[in-house]
Amino acid sequence: MSATDNAQNAPGGRLRHLISLSGLSKDLLRDIFADADSHKERSERTLAGQLFVNIFFENSTRTRAALEAAAKQLGADVVNLDQMTMSGEAKSESLEDTVRTVAAMGAAGIGLRHSEAGAATRAAKAADESGVAVINGGTGCESHPTQGLTDGYTLREIFGEDFSQLTVAIVGDILHSRVARSNAQMLKTMGAKNIRLIGPPDLCPPSLEKEFGAPVFANMDEGLQNADVVMLLRIQRERLQGEFRGASPENYCAAYGLTSARLSRLKSSAIVMHPGPINRGMEIEDAVADGEQSRILRQVKNGMAIRKAILSRLCAKQ
Ligand code: CP
Repeated sequence: MSATDNAQNAPGGRLRHLISLSGLSKDLLRDIFADADSHKERSERTLAGQLFVNIFFENSTRTRAALEAAAKQLGADVVNLDQMTMSGEAKSESLEDTVRTVAAMGAAGIGLRHSEAGAATRAAKAADESGVAVINGGTGCESHPTQGLTDGYTLREIFGEDFSQLTVAIVGDILHSRVARSNAQMLKTMGAKNIRLIGPPDLCPPSLEKEFGAPVFANMDEGLQNADVVMLLRIQRERLQGEFRGASPENYCAAYGLTSARLSRLKSSAIVMHPGPINRGMEIEDAVADGEQSRILRQVKNGMAIRKAILSRLCAKQ
């Protein structure tokens, strides 16, 4: 995946698709956040008469519902091709042909979730013969850009536009996490200097230091010291192999769960984030998930404004 994937064939380098946060400028992220502010106040029907199609090959609650609701609130008609069980790929249609088919129906935008890295890039290439924009709703372990923008927007709302002083700890199954990768890209672009990765060596190996440009901690209490933001990640059992697949929630929680005891050792201003869905009692205790420092539902709320900002930018008629 490269930065140019987002702008394939777009005049003036305009954002043509949203495939990855890699290569997007700080100014562009700030503009998207400012657009999200205005969508929180009031949304114009910028997509009236347009068609938006969700093509989801994997389960989703938040991303799919937010894209659908955001597109409808902007005035679009929405079609959901869920998990593709009823449609093309079950009949051996390629992803590219599904994209071309939806484009031929006149769609202005496609929300895509897929288990394979590179699927959104392939979809964007197929879409470039038409005018349809591809919005990556999560692909493989590589990229989840609308979640990264949602989390950046949530941090900006709480801490302001200067991320340079923030210490952000990303905790859990980082190896398999597209959210961790998009969030690290977003944080660096926004100027965060102190990002830490925390997790068991099977899920957060030392090799990630080079990929992320951030230190790896196998000891959660060490990694959490002085953190302003704790970003927890879901243990993705569906992507795990070997012994971790069957890890007991209690053992995981004791070593890497955010418990009330661990949270009490952080600053009172520290916030807790999680992209969802959450495994209660595994990566997070109930009292923390539902507590005063949790911003999990704020992330969900902000995800609506961000998806409206992206849909308006990419799918509205110029
Ligand atoms: N955060 C996230 O991607 O959640 P969903 O899988 O419910 O879309």
